[in-house]
Amino acid sequence: MAKKHILVVPGDGIGQEVTAVGKKVLDKIAEKFGHEFTYDEALIGHVAIEATGEALPEESLNKMRASDAVLFGAVGHPKYDNDPSAKVRPEQGLLKMRKELGLYANLRPIKLFDELLGASSIKPEVLKGADILFFRELTGDIYFGEKGRENNGDTAFDIARYSRFEVERIARKAFEAARTRRKKLCSVDKANVIETSRLWREVIQKIAPEYPDVEVEHQFVDATAMLLIKDPRRFDVVVTANLFGDILTDEASQIAGSMGMLASASIGDGTGVYEPIHGSAHDITGKGVANPLASVLSAALLLDISFGMKEESEAVINAVDQVLKAGFRTGDIADAGTPKDQVLGTEAMGEKVLSYL
Ligand code: IPM
Ligand code: MG
Repeated sequence: MAKKHILVVPGDGIGQEVTAVGKKVLDKIAEKFGHEFTYDEALIGHVAIEATGEALPEESLNKMRASDAVLFGAVGHPKYDNDPSAKVRPEQGLLKMRKELGLYANLRPIKLFDELLGASSIKPEVLKGADILFFRELTGDIYFGEKGRENNGDTAFDIARYSRFEVERIARKAFEAARTRRKKLCSVDKANVIETSRLWREVIQKIAPEYPDVEVEHQFVDATAMLLIKDPRRFDVVVTANLFGDILTDEASQIAGSMGMLASASIGDGTGVYEPIHGSAHDITGKGVANPLASVLSAALLLDISFGMKEESEAVINAVDQVLKAGFRTGDIADAGTPKDQVLGTEAMGEKVLSYL
């Protein structure tokens, strides 16, 4: 029996609805396995701006640092999307959290549940068995370099910057993960054009001999975008920079049928943060139809990675598998053949997972 303190940070939009389900699943696990989980909540994103004027108030950050793990929802609000001049934006909260907590490695597992083969727009025979683990660097690159305007605002710039140690630490995490899987690592860059990519490739090449059991390949990001759709099964572990990883993992989400299924773990030296890769989805917010499974699977990653609870984590994944096998779907993963009464809303889907747990 373990005692753990979990910070729940739902954020904006459907973040609220899906994180509530993720938390219930953690509660059920505690009950079932005899652990004691305590919870607190904190604000981030648009809801934090409304309440405090800041996208990530100091109080939230302190609570994050003091917890054993963070279950995170999403940030964003449509009111900022068409207002490029807004000075305070929800996304700043997310980026600040990543930087301040030193969350340099973002793990995004892309695994297709067999039952969802038909939910993807990619042909089932191309997809079956696809299982990719992305390592997206999360605290460097064009996301965090200097940015600004010159020439009276008519010219804009964003600096991409990487240092050797930043590439090396994420690369080592990816190599180590590859060792526990199919022992293949694909490093993605744009070394034919971009200087940070040339450093990236140099670092990977330099440390590769320390992992002789892992087969390494280098791919350009444009070719990778194509290969992911053409032949997703060729990939095992993929490691890439922040911006490329952002784009490629949205693309790769289609391999898993829906963004609504994909969980992620952001880890570094301190508290880990676990979150769906989908965003705040204001178009469906409050309708009770959002797929909570990405949050549930994020809770599974939390149990495994931050708490070392393998069995508990597998119990959660297994429950999701059972629910899908029994034919239950949320709208995003339902197809023409799904009977109406098997299409569930957010809460009902959560209850189904709990019942299989
Ligand atoms: C993600 C998101 C964020 C990112 C946004 C919301 C800032 O797209 O986590 O992938 O670009 O990193
Ligand atoms: Mg993204």
